[in-house]
Amino acid sequence: MARLRVIFENGDPEQVIDFDPAAAPFQHDGRPASLLDVLLGHGVALEHACGGNCACTTCHVIVKRGGDRLSPSEESEDDLLDKAPGLTPTSRLGCQAVVEDADAEIVIVVPRYTINQISGHGG
Ligand code: FES
Repeated sequence: MARLRVIFENGDPEQVIDFDPAAAPFQHDGRPASLLDVLLGHGVALEHACGGNCACTTCHVIVKRGGDRLSPSEESEDDLLDKAPGLTPTSRLGCQAVVEDADAEIVIVVPRYTINQISGHGG
């Protein structure tokens, strides 16, 4: 079993999810076995304004441990992350980072910054 520990920067109680990545998808948003898929499929909320389609930054999470057990980021993900508030060197988009190891132990932090709406006009 893989294990995902979720720490919320806003002080919400920590969550621990044990899951089998091979059993993905767990719900319909984001890549199968992505952090977003695992969270939503186990009743843990994570913002995902674009529906897990790599088109926003609301699913931004910071990977504290186990980042090497996740699928590498692609250019489209990196481009979006550049715009994420509170970006860190281990930031990922939850809908794009797929858990690839059935024994992975992953720890993520959900930042308190959240953009619920991305406006159409530039700035
Ligand atoms: S939910 Fe929009 S990029 Fe992940």
